[in-house]
Amino acid sequence: MNGFETVIYERNGNIAHVTLNRPRVLNVYSVQMRDDLYEILSAIKADDEIRAVIFKGAGEKAFCAGADLSEFLTAPSVVKARKIRVLRDLWGLFRSMPQPLIAALHGYVLGSGMEIALFCDIRIAAENTIFGLPEMGLGIIPGAGGTQTLPRVIGLARALDMLLTNRRMNAQEALESGLVSRVVPGDRLLETADEIARKIASFKAAAVRNGKQAVLQGLDMPLQQGLDLEKRLAMKTRTSGHQ
Ligand code: COA
Repeated sequence: MNGFETVIYERNGNIAHVTLNRPRVLNVYSVQMRDDLYEILSAIKADDEIRAVIFKGAGEKAFCAGADLSEFLTAPSVVKARKIRVLRDLWGLFRSMPQPLIAALHGYVLGSGMEIALFCDIRIAAENTIFGLPEMGLGIIPGAGGTQTLPRVIGLARALDMLLTNRRMNAQEALESGLVSRVVPGDRLLETADEIARKIASFKAAAVRNGKQAVLQGLDMPLQQGLDLEKRLAMKTRTSGHQ
């Protein structure tokens, strides 16, 4: 699986690497990138051999500086745009991925770049990372889940501050607010992501998948229902094979 226009897909053993690859324009998210990511994620999801996925951005300056503004409001029609969103629900696909997703972030992480990171399970950032949701300034609101995922990750007050005031966060603030769980020097970013992925890949696959599902699905449930879910998934994990 290769030859994508906007994304590089690589596989290193049982770890998948997905690189947003439009460095000249800070890896901004385009219609083509949506289609490329959709194809790649669909294949990864169906591949039981893949145990963890690392997302990163090509070039020095950005993980992803948001939506491609040169495509802004160029959808052929609202109806057509909606149809494509249903057919290729990339954000639904992100959310349904069974493998742990690791975001290795550097430089600008804006708009949809931030939203892609928020769909990942583990976010680590280089010291130079800048986070932001510039949508308000463009007269729009985030459209890739950011209004829902961000407050769940950093809490209501900080999320609204970022969203409504266009406030940016640096890596240290992101660490303090829980937006990322580790900050590392830039030259250690990919190595750290790889160490995390390899650690995850060394565990029993069913335990990792069921653990992820218990946490993410449980978050949307009342506590008792979440505890029942955990019980079911714990049993499923115990009765699954060794791998
Ligand atoms: N859509 C399309 N192209 C973009 C882009 C975007 N969102 N963000 C940056 N680019 C392009 C620039 O036009 C420039 O292309 P050029 O060299 O052909 O002129 C290239 O990427 C480099 O960007 P530049 O602005 O020169 O880099 P910078 O370091 O001076 O500034 C940013 C970086 C991120 C502060 C600035 O590019 C920016 O504010 N981008 C817009 C962010 C945004 O609003 N995203 C949409 C969120 S919904």
